[in-house]
Amino acid sequence: MSPHHFRPVSRRRLLQFLAASPLFAHGALAEGSRPSDPVDWAPRDLDKLIADPKQALDVFDFEPVMKQNVPPAHFGYMATGVDDEATLRANREGFRKFALRPRRLVDVSKVDMSAEILGAKYDSPIVIAPTGSNRAFHPDAEVAVAKAAKAGNHLQILSTVATTSIEDAIAARGAPVWFQLYTTQRWEVAEGLVKRAVTAGAPAIVVTLDVRTPAKWETFVRLRRTDTRDCGSCHGLNDYLSRKPNFAGIDLGGVSSTVVTNLTWDMIKRLRDTIKVKLVLKGIVAFEDAKLAADAGIDAIVVSNHGGRRWCQRDHRRVAGNRRSGGRPHADPG
Ligand SMILES: Cc1cc2nc3c(=O)[nH]c(=O)nc-3n(C[C@H](O)[C@H](O)[C@H](O)COP(=O)(O)O)c2cc1C
Repeated sequence: MSPHHFRPVSRRRLLQFLAASPLFAHGALAEGSRPSDPVDWAPRDLDKLIADPKQALDVFDFEPVMKQNVPPAHFGYMATGVDDEATLRANREGFRKFALRPRRLVDVSKVDMSAEILGAKYDSPIVIAPTGSNRAFHPDAEVAVAKAAKAGNHLQILSTVATTSIEDAIAARGAPVWFQLYTTQRWEVAEGLVKRAVTAGAPAIVVTLDVRTPAKWETFVRLRRTDTRDCGSCHGLNDYLSRKPNFAGIDLGGVSSTVVTNLTWDMIKRLRDTIKVKLVLKGIVAFEDAKLAADAGIDAIVVSNHGGRRWCQRDHRRVAGNRRSGGRPHADPG
């Protein structure tokens, strides 16, 4: 309707309606802002941090607390994604596309969220993913995580590069913990790690397939540049692995990092033949690889792009389309 179709009586009614509106009374429209969004009414105020975990309304309430309490380089290591944060943004957009389809008139007086994961029962399907170097964030490191996992009866997956050993994590959890494996260029190191984890009681080995070569973690690098501490006082040259407790007693044979270029299906098959516990692959994002994993006798896969820390095709449907049209399939550069 163009303005000259607006009869005076309609205009008067509209103005009366606006004058009576709470929005108008609070000046929101008068200030020319867009129509209200509930989040605008209660913005996340970064200078008013939660004082207790119980106050958190969602996990992102913890982030500014961490920013305040942890050195910039360590915060950057936690917060970073890859390449202009493109994958991280795509992940978050992707989550928004999930919708729930609630069924009504169901008795919910007793809700059972328990889940069986590879033969063990947990109170919920929420799993604690492996994260390296937890002591960079808190002196209690992965032991504190294990205690939290115990309190909520969650499955915990301990990282190869954890700052707590698999034995100490299992002791603190009071139950088996899965072990995440980063291979190195030497088979013997992987073999040593998994044998140690299995002896400690890990019922599953999770081999991480992504983040195996350096990635452009821009946020990490930018924040590290602002860190005025002497990183060398803790991080020596070439001691990355020898400082991690899970490598203690394992002959590194000269390898000093988890960067690998030789991880292929042959290595996975060799691992499958070496261990009797469950074998899981983490970082699968292409359906072709999921099929190969099933063929190789893998017990489960974790569909993951490392929380946006590895570049990943945004729209997996396009991968299938490319394949049909003879184009390149998944083009992960790293
Ligand atoms: C600080 C940090 C450290 C991580 N360290 C590891 C690790 O050592 N091993 C691993 O497999 N994944 C590691 N991850 C990835 C997580 O296990 C997990 O995949 C990610 O946070 C969640 O994203 P996803 O849903 O894409 O899996 C790390 C993630 C973060 C944020």
